[in-house]
Amino acid sequence: MDKILIIGAGGQIGVELTLALRQVYGRNNVIATDIREEHPLLKEDNGPFRHLDVMDFKEVAKMVAQENITQVYLLAAILSATGESKPVWAWDINMQSLLNVLEICRENKVKKFYWPSSIAAFGPNTPKQDTPQHTIIEPVTVYGISKYAGELWCRYYFQRYGLDIRSLRYPGLISWKSAPGGGTTDYAIDIYIEALKKKQFTCFLSEDTYLPMMYMNDAIRGTIELMEAPAEQIKNRMAYNLSAMSFSPKEIAAAIRKHIPDFTIDYAPDYRQQIAASWPQSIDDSEARADWGWQHEFDMDKITIDMLANLKKKLAL
Ligand code: NAD
Ligand code: SER
Repeated sequence: MDKILIIGAGGQIGVELTLALRQVYGRNNVIATDIREEHPLLKEDNGPFRHLDVMDFKEVAKMVAQENITQVYLLAAILSATGESKPVWAWDINMQSLLNVLEICRENKVKKFYWPSSIAAFGPNTPKQDTPQHTIIEPVTVYGISKYAGELWCRYYFQRYGLDIRSLRYPGLISWKSAPGGGTTDYAIDIYIEALKKKQFTCFLSEDTYLPMMYMNDAIRGTIELMEAPAEQIKNRMAYNLSAMSFSPKEIAAAIRKHIPDFTIDYAPDYRQQIAASWPQSIDDSEARADWGWQHEFDMDKITIDMLANLKKKLAL
């Protein structure tokens, strides 16, 4: 029987991934942990939750050993926008957390390890359209540098110690259940909330900033499919490119206007514009599709319908 540990389970991805993994493995076999208080949706689910700081090597090692953990998902990280405000701190958290957990997985012979990378691993010299799996990388944000370095460490632990590590370069993720944690793509969530609340949104990116994006439902399903795939199908032990769609703020505003005709948007680009401008505009994920059968389901119009309906209920509007 597999026993799963999720570190950073209270974040945008962690809440939904915990709930989805509990459906597959059983509630009591998925331990959610975070330095934050338990998220209300996890509390409601009534599964195991523990306070755990990933920087505390001894405590993480103790939990993995005492709970006989067989799979670890490491989601704790400092995202792109927050990372640029405190680069050395962000580097420390993003790298030390990964090194701690890789070592603990090795020492405890953990069967599988998941750690997400990002489109932020790419930089301004990377081809912007249909960015290939293998290409010029050269990230320029501290977050992106930590993602690319992390991918290399993951491959190192796979090659040197045989740790079954799997990873995805997520695009910007759009969701409504748990709030995003300080990324450059967060505008694509805020826009729906403000459209419903005020019918007006001031975007921190310029109108034609194209970025790769994905709905959380697809990202969660893709993550679990990657982790369930037979090991021989996982030919990439750094991180797979993963893609669904790309759009600009102007285009998402037009999609919202189909449902809220008097919605207006204006633009006040800030420091996050430079981060976005260093990233790809669209991603070639043909290796993920060929190796383990990745397929996305949600496009921008389907996301818009789902986001507006669910946020309307959640915000009681
Ligand atoms: P998030 O910021 O929403 O969640 C991170 C969680 O980690 C938070 O609940 C936070 O409290 C917790 N955490 C922070 N420091 C910790 C520590 N020392 N010990 C334990 N927990 C700690 O982030 P997310 O959006 O859920 O992202 C999860 C992972 O996915 C990250 O590695 C991120 O880089 C990656 N990713 C996210 C996106 C996205 O669009 N959300 C895109 C690409 C990659
Ligand atoms: N969504 C993330 C961010 O904007 C990308 O990894 O930081």
